[in-house]
Amino acid sequence: MIVHPTGKFDNRARAYAHIEAHPSAAAMGAEIRGVQLACLSDAQFAEIRNALFRHRMIYFRDQHITHADQEAFSLRFGPFAEDAYTKGVEGHPNVQPVIKEADVKTGMVFGSGWHTDSPFLPRPPAISMLYGADIPPFGGDTIWANTVLAYAMLSETMQRMLAPLRVHMSMARVLESAQAYARIDDSSLGRLAALRGTMALPEEVMRKVQGTTHPLVRTHPVTGERALYCDGTYAVGIEGLTEPESEALLNYLVAHITQPAFTCRLRWQPKTFALWDNRICIHQAFNDYDGYRRELYRTTVAGEIPE
Ligand code: SIN
Repeated sequence: MIVHPTGKFDNRARAYAHIEAHPSAAAMGAEIRGVQLACLSDAQFAEIRNALFRHRMIYFRDQHITHADQEAFSLRFGPFAEDAYTKGVEGHPNVQPVIKEADVKTGMVFGSGWHTDSPFLPRPPAISMLYGADIPPFGGDTIWANTVLAYAMLSETMQRMLAPLRVHMSMARVLESAQAYARIDDSSLGRLAALRGTMALPEEVMRKVQGTTHPLVRTHPVTGERALYCDGTYAVGIEGLTEPESEALLNYLVAHITQPAFTCRLRWQPKTFALWDNRICIHQAFNDYDGYRRELYRTTVAGEIPE
């Protein structure tokens, strides 16, 4: 399914006074230049926040930051979110390592599959950030899709039909895939894989598998923009519809959101720092860099109950 660009595509940069924004694709994404995140002024931060909401995902090259700097930058957006998967690094419980060693071969990496972060929680993280420490020479990119643009490109009739619906978000598929494909180790997926064959899931995992429902079309609390809130990983049903009905609708919506015209892709480099707003885009990581190490550090910002 292909749609052709219309007047609804608008990823042009605003004229900022304290940063430079360079759009990465027609649909979304921008590189921000002219700043070091470790020593930001309030005026720069205000423009970065504005650019994040405008471009959905923004990134910065050549950032010299420590875990403490990442925590401080993340906290400017708000308190840390509940960590649904990973354990933090020593001394920095909210800085979560996302690491795959060169000699590890696994059928599944953290972030595989199109998703918005942890929507099975009642208050999913609003914003996620990753800092690249060790990056493979090729592969290991991340891709995002703009869910505001995808919503805007639906017919008014479809938008009206979706407006009252609620989507059931659950960790069930990730648990199933981790048990089928991931290596058992101390990583987030490795710990889920270790539950293979367990009769009674720990209560913490059970809660995430049961998940929760959220509006299928959500409104951004700051900009008021409306976005599709569904993905190919956690959206498992639509309240009030039969299984075949929700499956057909969710499959259509995920294919619609993730068509290439609505995406942008980031080629990581060491010291690249990226952040995205989970309320207005979805993303996925690739498992395509066997033989190379990939090491990133993640923080997440608490979100609101989606409305
Ligand atoms: C994630 O889904 O947060 C991880 C993305 C990545 O590792 O590229």
